[in-house]
Amino acid sequence: PRERGWRTRYLYLFHGFWCQPAEIQSITTLHHHFRPNDSDIIIATIPKSGTTWLKALTFATVNRDLFPPSSKSHPLLSSNPHDLAPFFEYTVYGSHDRNPPDLSGFPEPRLFGTHIPFDGLPSSVKDSDCKVIYICRNPFDTFVSSWTFINKIKPESLPPLTLEEAFDMYCQGIIGFGPFWDHMLGYWNESKEKPHKVLFLKYEDLKGETERELKRIAEFLGCGFGEEEEERGMVESIVKLCSFEKMKELEVNKCGTFGRNFGNKHLFRKAEIGDWVNHFSPPMVERLSTVIEEKLGGSDSSPCSSS
Ligand code: A3P
Repeated sequence: PRERGWRTRYLYLFHGFWCQPAEIQSITTLHHHFRPNDSDIIIATIPKSGTTWLKALTFATVNRDLFPPSSKSHPLLSSNPHDLAPFFEYTVYGSHDRNPPDLSGFPEPRLFGTHIPFDGLPSSVKDSDCKVIYICRNPFDTFVSSWTFINKIKPESLPPLTLEEAFDMYCQGIIGFGPFWDHMLGYWNESKEKPHKVLFLKYEDLKGETERELKRIAEFLGCGFGEEEEERGMVESIVKLCSFEKMKELEVNKCGTFGRNFGNKHLFRKAEIGDWVNHFSPPMVERLSTVIEEKLGGSDSSPCSSS
């Protein structure tokens, strides 16, 4: 791997995308050991695009018979979504001991998360009938969410990552699992070629039309909502259970930790569309707009609109 990037010491270019040494190790283990089931569901994102929310919605939807969303003991009330749909690279294959984890006791359908670009997924995943749901977010908001998050979780010994430094790297594509344009395009192209395999969602649509998008997710996963369920308010209940306002206030999300011991509270910041206007100067808007136009302009760039 070629060393460069965030704080120079921490990101490496690995098969065309940027990641940390620990991630390279777990991705390698994933490639060696993971055997997908056709019923597996993989939630794929570039960081800070709505991963936590999508994991919650998907978990609540596929498990709605077992755990009715209005139940007082619903797992999402006591577990962070990342514990219910663990990341391949941080949790499932993140421990780096010699033996790969035994996934046979994992409840079905198995839900996993990943930030790995489509091209970097094991061919076993690409060739199986397991489903992939991808969510992207406009790169302006994703950048702000990412920059603020990095500064919250960074080791205290490191100085803050300045907006200018972070932005310059982002525009060069240097961000965990980026460049963001390759990440989006990989899943976008696959969703066009194999719509039964990859569902491509946008954070902005999910915010604006949550019920409609949730129904799309359920249909895609082969567990569409029946009329009777809709009459009982099943869709609304799931949306409410997974809402930002509800999740942010749960004890587990205020106090718990995930991944490499980061506070769950950092996963819930503002959840707004367009917060970037509070951080971008006119030259920054121009530079990122140009990057988006150049890299994604010709490829139905609607996922990347800047407002
Ligand atoms: P902001 O930093 O703009 O507030 P990820 O889950 O991929 O890390 O993405 C984090 C972003 O999703 C954060 O955006 C966070 O606030 C937002 N988010 C988290 N939970 C959400 C929810 N239930 N509904 C909508 N947005 C949510």
